[in-house]
Amino acid sequence: MSKSCFSTFSLCLFFLHIFLCLLLTQSAHESAIVTQIPGFNATLPSKHYAGYVTVDENHGRNLYYYFVVSEGKPSEDPVVLWLNGGPGCSSFDGFIYEHGPFNFEAANTKGGLPTLHLNPYSWSKVSSIIYLDSPAGVGFSYSQNETDYTTGDIKTASDTHAFLLKWFELYPEFLSNPFFIAGESYAGVYVPTLALEVAKGIDAGVKPKLNFKGYMVGNGVTDEQFDGNALVPFAHGMGLISDDLYEEVNNECNGNFYNPASDTCASKLETVDQDIDAVNIYNILEPCYHGTETEKITASYIRLPSSFQTLGETERPFPVRKRIFGRAWPLRAPVRDGIVPTWPQLMTGHRAPPCTDDEIANSWLNNEAVREAIHTAKKSVVSSWDLCTDKISYHRDAGSMIKFHKNLTSRGYRALIFSGDHDMCVPFTGSQAWTRSIGYKIVDQWRPWLSNDQVAGYTQGYDKNLTFLTIKGAGHTVPEYKPREALDFYKRFLAGLPI
Ligand SMILES: *[C@@H]1O[C@H](CO)[C@@H](O)[C@H](O)[C@H]1NC(C)=O
Ligand SMILES: *[C@@H]1O[C@H](CO)[C@@H](O)[C@H](O)[C@H]1NC(C)=O
Ligand SMILES: *[C@@H]1O[C@H](CO)[C@@H](O)[C@H](O)[C@H]1NC(C)=O
Ligand SMILES: *[C@@H]1O[C@H](CO)[C@@H](O)[C@H](O)[C@H]1NC(C)=O
Repeated sequence: MSKSCFSTFSLCLFFLHIFLCLLLTQSAHESAIVTQIPGFNATLPSKHYAGYVTVDENHGRNLYYYFVVSEGKPSEDPVVLWLNGGPGCSSFDGFIYEHGPFNFEAANTKGGLPTLHLNPYSWSKVSSIIYLDSPAGVGFSYSQNETDYTTGDIKTASDTHAFLLKWFELYPEFLSNPFFIAGESYAGVYVPTLALEVAKGIDAGVKPKLNFKGYMVGNGVTDEQFDGNALVPFAHGMGLISDDLYEEVNNECNGNFYNPASDTCASKLETVDQDIDAVNIYNILEPCYHGTETEKITASYIRLPSSFQTLGETERPFPVRKRIFGRAWPLRAPVRDGIVPTWPQLMTGHRAPPCTDDEIANSWLNNEAVREAIHTAKKSVVSSWDLCTDKISYHRDAGSMIKFHKNLTSRGYRALIFSGDHDMCVPFTGSQAWTRSIGYKIVDQWRPWLSNDQVAGYTQGYDKNLTFLTIKGAGHTVPEYKPREALDFYKRFLAGLPI
């Protein structure tokens, strides 16, 4: 056999190999591509994929994801996993109300299909994002074995890690992009627990090797003591309780506001609760709507000076939710080890449900054509989509997150801890205090940060790339209230630039 013949033959083999590889990687996620989106009738600005990854074959435990490819440079831009909290809330919360590719305009008729417009502040402008419904039982994720719906922090983190490994096998072209994990609220627990699993996996040589760089937590649940003590100073600083009450509660409780040691302390805390009870917990500037009272509140709002009328204003063309059906816990009851009730579970108790408005998400995600277009399980398997589910029984079993943050930052992973400073659900006072308590040297002294030439909040940078950041005037779900500012800090953090 002549040399040239041999080399032609090997060249053929080489091309056949390339071809097969392309075919395999193509076909691996080809079936997940989203070709059209009901409610949106223009061309998508980037590719979207959606589907399931099975994390446990025996149990038939399947996690649903919606993947938005970057509208910038997909081959270089970071890949970010986004997690909403709860426990029990779907990450479509982030997709629909916060930083997804679309702004949703409600239909004229109740339950009608919303109209979708492009969101100029979508986080997909600068990154690819995986919106994951986690744990199984939440959103469109499910298990064929219902024992899986009893779960907790540790199992959730290990499932999500399994998800990531399989997901990157399906999408190997994104394996070399910088990878970040982000989330808010109860994801203040999901994010660091998962990040540690990922870091341990990398150390142990688990394949595929994730190019993990860092993480972000917004208004995140972190630590019983810090979170529990955050409310009273917040309420005082914001002018929601009097100086007298603040002094009394301090004297009676000795700075321990989360676990009253005496009846007098408990009774002072009760007075604090009464004072703030009617305030919107997710953004103290927003009115709390109560059905028919809406008109009245709107009218009194309009009598305010014009500077006050624009206080909670956002650049979103459609109003933010009137109130979020998200995760809070009764005031003064920080998430402790043990069972964490989901919102629907809390509501069966005597505490009245908050005035909710998840109409747009419900009407879109429970629409038959939408479900088909975004590849959800059939209705016989996942009957309806709920923003927050009561299907799961969730145990907090990973304790305080502070040790996780210490571990991760000392290994060189970058961390951004951000807070909408008008959120009373997980107030910034707690996040500011625990980040400081870690004791790292301050490398960027407390200063304002700017967006659109305006002060958008404040930041303090610590050694080991731990950054604390506030977003002025934002509530619990920061990008929902401050979309432009949120895209600005997000972009800068991902790029490793000062914020
Ligand atoms: C998009 O929908 C609107 C309203 O249904 C319709 O008038 C318009 O022609 C549609 N555009 C395209 C490109 O299909
Ligand atoms: C569900 O999982 C549990 C725990 O692994 C197992 O004992 C049980 O047999 C499973 N049930 C079904 C119907 O497979
Ligand atoms: C971080 O945690 C890992 C695994 O739990 C442990 O092996 C390692 O020593 C810890 N590193 C630091 C710096 O705390
Ligand atoms: C912080 O992150 C930047 C960008 O990734 C890196 O260059 C730098 O070395 C890190 N600094 C520390 C103290 O880890």
